[in-house]
Amino acid sequence: MTTNKYIVLSSDHAGIQLRQVVAAHIAAKGWEVVNIGPTSSESTPYPKHGEAAAQLVASGDCRFGIVLCGTGQGIMMAANKVRGIRCGVCSDTFSARMIREHNNANMLSMGVRVIGEGVALDIVDAFLSAQFEGGRHATRVEMIEALEG
Ligand code: RB5
Repeated sequence: MTTNKYIVLSSDHAGIQLRQVVAAHIAAKGWEVVNIGPTSSESTPYPKHGEAAAQLVASGDCRFGIVLCGTGQGIMMAANKVRGIRCGVCSDTFSARMIREHNNANMLSMGVRVIGEGVALDIVDAFLSAQFEGGRHATRVEMIEALEG
């Protein structure tokens, strides 16, 4: 059981507003928030923000990462290029729970142009309250890790 309570949050310009809402939400639940990413609405490329968040998770500085962009897809793709990162895009709470229970995801991505604030916060709660089940799922996650070479 980890005692690391740090969660890194990042986004591109599209995700700024929801990122601040998520930051307040998880801070109220006792998580330590490392809120990186832009604060101005000026256009900024999602890969660098996905990578920056992923590095803090891969290094072990943060237990989880939550990233946001318009669709959630681009920033997820960037995060998953960092060794050790398993990031899934979620638009529903079932998927958010399952990427923890079965895939041992360490990052969650959401699309701010896809879902609303209420659903996003429910997804965050589902992700953070679920536990990796291990067992046969651990073998499969090891197979994902093996693909990293
Ligand atoms: C930015 O307009 C948009 O491309 C970005 O937020 C995201 O949707 C990319 O996947």
